[in-house]
Amino acid sequence: MFVLVNLKTYPCDPIEVAEAVSDVDDRTDARLAVAPQAAHLERVAETGVETWAQHVDPIDHGSNTGHTLAESVADAGADGTLINHSEQRLKLADVDGSVRAAERAGLETVVCANNPAQIGAAAALGPDAVAVEPPELIGTGTPVSQADPDVVEDAVDAASSVNSAVSVLCGAGISTGDDIVAAGDLGAEGVLLASGVAKADDPAAALEDLVEPL
Ligand code: G3P
Repeated sequence: MFVLVNLKTYPCDPIEVAEAVSDVDDRTDARLAVAPQAAHLERVAETGVETWAQHVDPIDHGSNTGHTLAESVADAGADGTLINHSEQRLKLADVDGSVRAAERAGLETVVCANNPAQIGAAAALGPDAVAVEPPELIGTGTPVSQADPDVVEDAVDAASSVNSAVSVLCGAGISTGDDIVAAGDLGAEGVLLASGVAKADDPAAALEDLVEPL
């Protein structure tokens, strides 16, 4: 399973979380990665943890003040990027442009979507993976894999009917190892999670619990 920890803009110490993820990664068969804010990418990548951006824009080098360029993210040490997270939604054409920009920069891509229908559209754009996250469950601690299992299974079906090479992740409310196991049982190859680690009093202990059953 791929476990991608999104730090959003939570007031956690990104280096502390990155070091915890890196440490736990050395002791599990799961693949772990962390997605800090863009300004923290370089310092997080220097810890040796697999590092992801939270977003890249559908742009090339040039006159794009305030945008996030895929090449800059890659230069900072990112291995991949989220695109179209529920908190950073894009138009379909811009999702496509961001996937192309990430590919150009050699970044792995996960395109997020709210529901199985959007997952089908996202898979058609040919990212490495898609992630279904029902917005109403994000940050609630109520796991999608248990509260709404159909949405995960339908997302897996939607992606495979469009492009069987695209992996499916799920996210929202996942905070325990059992939630991740349930996601895998539904056909997901990984999970996105945030508050369960980024808002934990002890992120290292939260991560240990998360990967324990894997
Ligand atoms: O990107 C993952 C995220 O949207 C899920 O958030 O806090 O429900 O794990 P959370």
